[in-house]
Amino acid sequence: MAEIVALRPHDDAARPVPVETDKGILRFLTCGSVDDGKSTLIGRLLLDTKKLFDDQLASLEKDSRRFGTVGDDMDLALLVDGLEAEREQGITIDVAYRFFATEKRKFIVADTPGHEQYTRNMATGASTADLAVLLIDARKGILNQTRRHATIAAMLGIRHVVLAINKIDLVDYDRVVYDRIVAAFDADASHYGFASRVAIPISARHGDNVGERSESMPWYRGPTLLEHLEGIDLSVDVTASRPFRFPVQWVNRPDLTFRGYAGTIAAGTIRAGDDIVVARTGQQATVSRIVTYDGDVRSASADEAVTLTLDREIDLSRGDILATPAARPDVSDQFAAHLIWMADEAMLPGRPYLMKIGTRTVGAAITELKHKVEIETLKPLAAKTLALNDIGFANLSLAEPIAFDSYEDNRTTGAFILIDRFTNATVAAGMIRFGLSRATNIHRQALDVDKAARAGAKGQKPAVLWFTGLSGSGKSTIANLVEKKLHLMGRHTYLLDGDNVRHGLNRDLGFTDADRVENIRRVAETAKLFVDAGLIVLVSFISPFRAERQLARDLVAEGEFVEIFVDTPLEVAEARDVKGLYKKAREGKIKNFTGIDSPYEAPLTPDIRLDTSIGDAEAQADRIVDYLIERGYSAA
Ligand code: ADX
Repeated sequence: MAEIVALRPHDDAARPVPVETDKGILRFLTCGSVDDGKSTLIGRLLLDTKKLFDDQLASLEKDSRRFGTVGDDMDLALLVDGLEAEREQGITIDVAYRFFATEKRKFIVADTPGHEQYTRNMATGASTADLAVLLIDARKGILNQTRRHATIAAMLGIRHVVLAINKIDLVDYDRVVYDRIVAAFDADASHYGFASRVAIPISARHGDNVGERSESMPWYRGPTLLEHLEGIDLSVDVTASRPFRFPVQWVNRPDLTFRGYAGTIAAGTIRAGDDIVVARTGQQATVSRIVTYDGDVRSASADEAVTLTLDREIDLSRGDILATPAARPDVSDQFAAHLIWMADEAMLPGRPYLMKIGTRTVGAAITELKHKVEIETLKPLAAKTLALNDIGFANLSLAEPIAFDSYEDNRTTGAFILIDRFTNATVAAGMIRFGLSRATNIHRQALDVDKAARAGAKGQKPAVLWFTGLSGSGKSTIANLVEKKLHLMGRHTYLLDGDNVRHGLNRDLGFTDADRVENIRRVAETAKLFVDAGLIVLVSFISPFRAERQLARDLVAEGEFVEIFVDTPLEVAEARDVKGLYKKAREGKIKNFTGIDSPYEAPLTPDIRLDTSIGDAEAQADRIVDYLIERGYSAA
């Protein structure tokens, strides 16, 4: 047996550490705008509790250290894994976390800004919250914004909601107003599916029914806000009682005698001696030890950071999820999910993004947007794209299978973010609904005659020569010359040209961003097949977006992709105007014309750059052929 190794030196490694759970903490979120009195309410809660229970704050501060931060940094402390990643990605999260406590409970309140377009911030605050306080101005009643907040809260897995009907003093503490608002909310409530809904008439300003019972509303018999927050039973939501999930954060291997798997338990409880299974591969083992900062423990539960050692060596790495054999997560490379779009740029189906789920990062694309959710009415709406703050339901396809749960079952293993491959910005938060088994029964056929055999028969090294540039830059002219030269040299080639392919395979596509992404995706897949056939494929498309050119590169093997930037200033291409299209575009007769009212993202590091505003096409074609000869694609 290995020497006892802990993550931190300590005196008595065998000492069991009492398991601290979060039962005493309620995490909640306030939703509403500044006008609704949100700041006043939070201020009131802090005031009413602080003056009474000052001593509790010290212990709360201790708790907050468990999450890794103290003092002024507290607001960064409590984000779940994925959202922490989001912070690393450089997204600004305008959420402040505040702490207060009473004798009965400790509270963490996420305070998000109140303007209407703040889905993203709310999503951040809500992802760990147990309860949402929806602030309603008694004079205004239920607004679209209230419905928006309730939808997002429900979608993010918040099970309990409080309707804080504020400024009740301004409507003379009128019961009728209160009843009407509650009824209006309940008319929609079945859509949200909250486990509990409590409505409380309050005046944050005067303190009625916040920390202290109001004398002005004898008709109200329910709890004060604070009483409710103190008393609400969260035991059914406790993640410790759910199936065990342990996303492996890193493999701890300080020396040859010790190998442990470190991470934070996402759900459930694990004991030494329990059997576990690697969700992705199905390999099994038994837990030998559970090592913590303070030494070995016999068992550990959700939210605790531990290192597990196993009784045998298995193939396991960062990003894998350990589970119990009886309740394994799903494994698939396709699933349906809710998406909250967080980028200024619209979502593009087919575009290659990176998906970060727990400790794992994989390539991902949105294959189909099923619908967008009209937040105010909760109705599904047909849509082709999602804009900033939109919520949609979509199918996603991944580069490799992953293990996951539905978000409903597990808010850690069912949540993910999508990242832009170039800017590293988080573009969406996602919540998995269910896996799609479509791809699981289509196994790739291993074929006896392979790429090497086909290329060998032709005596050449296959490649994609990808020409990108503005319309009229000279892509097709040069590609055509290169193909002729290669052909004369006995090479086997094929030329895919935008103008031609758009008459056949891609006849159904136009020039919107989404259509261009699909245009290039299909051509990239076609080029890949031709490379597999052993050919030298010349692709001549504007291909204006970096992300899809990168996708095309990623589809073939290292060294098989040559990006050729046919670089001509817009003025030159426009002056040439071989097809007369620039003129039409300027006159507004053609929409979304590249360079005019649709962007072109020039390659940053092309393999070959040709300045076609000068130089003759013959010489430039020769340059490409020389490049190929030098690199052995084609013998001289
Ligand atoms: S891409 O952007 O999707 O890669 P592609 O190379 O297939 O474009 O097609 C570009 C050709 O379509 C241009 O050379 C031009 O002849 C024609 N065309 C027609 N409308 C447009 C447009 N709005 N923008 C760019 N090219 C257009």
